[in-house]
Amino acid sequence: MTRSDIMNDPSIGNKAEAFEAFDDIPTNPNLSRTIGDVINARFGRRDMLRGMLGVSASTALFGTAALIAPTKSEAGAKAASRYVFDELTSGNDATHHVAEGYDANVLLRWGDPIIADAPEFDVMNQTAAAQLKQFGYNNDYVGFVPLNDEGTRGLLCVNHEYTNEEVMFPGLGRQDSNGFAGMTPDLIDIEMAAHGGSVVEIAKDSAGAWAVVRDGKMNRRISPLQTAMTLDGPAAGHHRLQTNDDPAGLNVIGTINNCAGGLTPWGTWLMAEENFHGYFWTDKLDGAGKPDISAQPEAAQMARYGVPGMWYAWGQHYDRYNIDKEPNMPNKFGWVVEVDPMDPTSTPIKHTALGRFRHEGAETTVSTDGKLVIYMGDDNRFDYQYKYVSNGSVSDDRAANSALLSEGVLYVARFEEDGIINWLPLVHGEGPLTAENGFEDQGDVLIDTRIAADLLGATPMDRPEDAQPRGDGTAYILLTNNNKRKAGETNAANPRAASDFGHIIEIKENGGDHAATSGTWSILLKCGDPAIAEVGAEWNPDTSQNGWFGSPDNAAIDADGRLWIATDQGSKWGKTGKSDGLYAVETEGDARGTSKLFFRCPVGGEMCGPYFTDDGETLFVAVQHPGTDGTKDLAGFERESTFEDPATRWPDFNDKMPPRPAVVVITRQGGGKIAVS
Ligand code: FEO
Ligand code: CA
Ligand code: CA
Repeated sequence: MTRSDIMNDPSIGNKAEAFEAFDDIPTNPNLSRTIGDVINARFGRRDMLRGMLGVSASTALFGTAALIAPTKSEAGAKAASRYVFDELTSGNDATHHVAEGYDANVLLRWGDPIIADAPEFDVMNQTAAAQLKQFGYNNDYVGFVPLNDEGTRGLLCVNHEYTNEEVMFPGLGRQDSNGFAGMTPDLIDIEMAAHGGSVVEIAKDSAGAWAVVRDGKMNRRISPLQTAMTLDGPAAGHHRLQTNDDPAGLNVIGTINNCAGGLTPWGTWLMAEENFHGYFWTDKLDGAGKPDISAQPEAAQMARYGVPGMWYAWGQHYDRYNIDKEPNMPNKFGWVVEVDPMDPTSTPIKHTALGRFRHEGAETTVSTDGKLVIYMGDDNRFDYQYKYVSNGSVSDDRAANSALLSEGVLYVARFEEDGIINWLPLVHGEGPLTAENGFEDQGDVLIDTRIAADLLGATPMDRPEDAQPRGDGTAYILLTNNNKRKAGETNAANPRAASDFGHIIEIKENGGDHAATSGTWSILLKCGDPAIAEVGAEWNPDTSQNGWFGSPDNAAIDADGRLWIATDQGSKWGKTGKSDGLYAVETEGDARGTSKLFFRCPVGGEMCGPYFTDDGETLFVAVQHPGTDGTKDLAGFERESTFEDPATRWPDFNDKMPPRPAVVVITRQGGGKIAVS
């Protein structure tokens, strides 16, 4: 499918669905290789691998068959899940739902004023200037940085991933299918101002209710319209980062498509730049209406990254988003951005050491000897799972800690067929990453991370979304779905062809050390309806009809080390009949592989966040793009949403207000930890 096919496909009704369709275009050309071909040829590592197998015969235990086969505890008895709550009934309707005994209150909506002098939201007369002082659109990652010991005041750090103009702006309708005919410069500026991130102080009152501190001194908006950033690490200053307004290759305006993210142990916020390719434009089209990048000096690299995606019209008005004018500008995006939320005047930093790809998230942990470790997925069909390990160790020196994101080793995962995972270093001069293969220096390796990983023989995955480490050397890798994998392209770690519902892999790093360069892996869940044999789902059979899900996307570990999974089925939710939501997934004991539904999104919304406070008593979840995805499947509505005619007006339910993405805060009635007896 080409871009023009997607634009002219009548079944694709809104931008979110078009995004999914664009995601259907894999850019990895290396699928025909046998796993390990390249690495064996280039590294001569076969003996090493054989040696590892020799000493780990017991890893058969970690093979997929052994661990996914659920065991019943006693005859007929339900295995004991550690999550204490009565699960919701699954379904899909106009509003959100939370398990009985909990409050789920809307805390922050698109347009809510977050700066002291911000105007009230006026959806019929929105301006970029107002938007820059108001909460942005499509909240995705949520993190909480406490400001007092009790954790009753703190900074919410929220990513604003993208915009849905058809439900944001009156009278506009869908724009990507009509050549952006209605996108005036003013509307483009509003879109840009609604992207990026927000830092918002919030506080809990004596009754346990959370509210926004509107005049919080650290409240801040970050956007691709106006926020200056620096680049650091091995690629900073590289000639391939030099642009007309920045001949030194050290600076950039803004960050885009900030999806999931993370917080560092010292309280800075990591914003992952995901589908950056979608924001770049060219005026050069071929006969089929597709971008013609053949004259671009970096055409092969651009093709591998899907640049330019032309999802937005920004490049019609801003040279920096037009590759005809600024061919190096896409190389300044696709990084992880560090923001210090405690200092509203601080300059965000794009850390090139963490690699350039469609970063889904950046969840951190600390290794046994104190190194910073970050797990990061590259969300594209057949792309890879990465991990970064700092050279130095985390210390009490907050300023010094930022250097941990500048000097370290980026690894890409190869999931061996026998349950071993090997982390392959992306280091210039090692293996195939040499000048003769086009890598002049480490900057080249990082700017072309995907191509370097191709050469190393990484395992092409079913769209790696969020990855969530736990302190004990365990990490959970969420593979959301991949309907393009053919029968001959499966591997042990991606075992289903045409996978509509995704799976979750559990990694156990050797020695319980997140810095280890190898470990074992197993499949925790194969998602989808366990009652339909063709789906090939695998759950602990104690999972109820309400508890199974499809398309795992975001994850959190709560104060008790328990795993929670948020879903994003996109417009395909009709295949499960369930809205997106938040599920409690047991990883331990006889109940391993059970799942219970805790929170449900309104129709068309995707479940983002989630984030638990350290005391386990507050859970933040983000409802992204309510009212947009798959609304043709909502009984009684059965059409695409527009500003004037949306499938839901959540969360306001006011005839004058369209649906608004919003962060919801969940607490237990009467207080106490969530899902604990
Ligand atoms: Fe923005 Fe891969 O989800
Ligand atoms: Ca996501
Ligand atoms: Ca997703």
